Amino acid sequence: MIFVNFKTYEQGSGSKAVELTRILEEVALQTQVKIIPVVQIIDAETVIGSTKLEVWIQHVDPVTYGANTGWTLPEEAVKVGIRGVFLNHSEHKFANWEDLVKAVSRCREVELKTLVFASSLEELKKALELKPTYVAYEPPELIGSTSISVATAQPEIIAKAAVITKEGGIPLIVGAGIASREDVKKSLELGAVGVAVATDVVKAVDPKRELIDLTEGFKG
Ligand code: G3P
Repeated sequence: MIFVNFKTYEQGSGSKAVELTRILEEVALQTQVKIIPVVQIIDAETVIGSTKLEVWIQHVDPVTYGANTGWTLPEEAVKVGIRGVFLNHSEHKFANWEDLVKAVSRCREVELKTLVFASSLEELKKALELKPTYVAYEPPELIGSTSISVATAQPEIIAKAAVITKEGGIPLIVGAGIASREDVKKSLELGAVGVAVATDVVKAVDPKRELIDLTEGFKG
């Protein structure tokens, strides 16, 4: 599976989020690889109305109905058709670990899938204790890189992450600088079930071509 994180890139915002999602859907249908657009909260409802793909958002807050100005409620995310959320991405950390614990628990209550990011093996171990749907290992220093990926720079760490996550019974996703079928193939060989990608697809001149190339990494 491939999570495509639209972040707040212009190429993945507003009407462009809908256009990019259309490309993701075409590639998913053509290749039969599961592809998940992870869009901004503000674009989610429009994107959901335009696609058959499962749509995720990039963050949700550990709140219930009440006085929480500017926060996002897990139950309202479910109501508009959002199927899952990223949590603890290195670009959107919670104020403290307890808030992350509560966010995962709130998502479980409303049946929203979760992917909890970790920047290190230590954080990954802690993330596994929360029993999210997926965990992801992403070294922050490689995020956005166009020359070096987590798969080429840190194969030993991915292999260790795979052992830890297998023991914890939670599927592993890896991300940061993923840009080629070789990166995907290597990540899967090391024990991940999928990748999270942004720059290589969202900022590409030809996102379809880049995405098709990534899907090639799933072929045996
Ligand atoms: O969530 C995935 C993202 O952080 C990876 O970004 O630009 O390195 O593919 P990028």
